[in-house]
Amino acid sequence: FAFTQANQAWAEAQITKYPEGRQASAIIPLLWRAQEQEGWLTRPAIEHVADMLGMAYIRALEVASFYFMFQLQPVGSVAHIQVCGTTSCMICGAEDLVAVCKEKIAPKAHQLSEDGKFSWEEVECLGACANAPMAQIGKDYYEDLTAKSMGDIIDMLARGDVPTPGSQQGRFAAEPL
Ligand code: FES
Repeated sequence: FAFTQANQAWAEAQITKYPEGRQASAIIPLLWRAQEQEGWLTRPAIEHVADMLGMAYIRALEVASFYFMFQLQPVGSVAHIQVCGTTSCMICGAEDLVAVCKEKIAPKAHQLSEDGKFSWEEVECLGACANAPMAQIGKDYYEDLTAKSMGDIIDMLARGDVPTPGSQQGRFAAEPL
């Protein structure tokens, strides 16, 4: 693994933002940039970041494996869908959303769809509990989902259309009093 020239320069600039001896603090942005470049975090990418920060590979892997934002396996070329399965979403129908992902993408989490375009997983609370059930697709939140709207969103993405993020039922924050 190697960063592109631009990403390498960007990564080196991040490291200089931290005091001497604290370079490891730059790990999250560097891992994130590596993932943006490759689509997911390969072992060589994590090793490269660890080397840049003077860290052991295992310490960098500990960080990469802790956060759902980092993918340690290949993801769909069009979208990786993260369905929240924590309490509010579970009560409001997360299971139905997972069932749609199993049917339309692949029977198991982290499996690629046959065409390689999609993958999915269940994750812990994404902090949008008021609009449960919800899922994160790419960097966007899709909220107040139903099995139908989840399926429609996957179909749109498969066609190359761009679904509108946010509430799928037109429910937004209440007007201020
Ligand atoms: Fe699903 Fe919090 S429980 S966003």
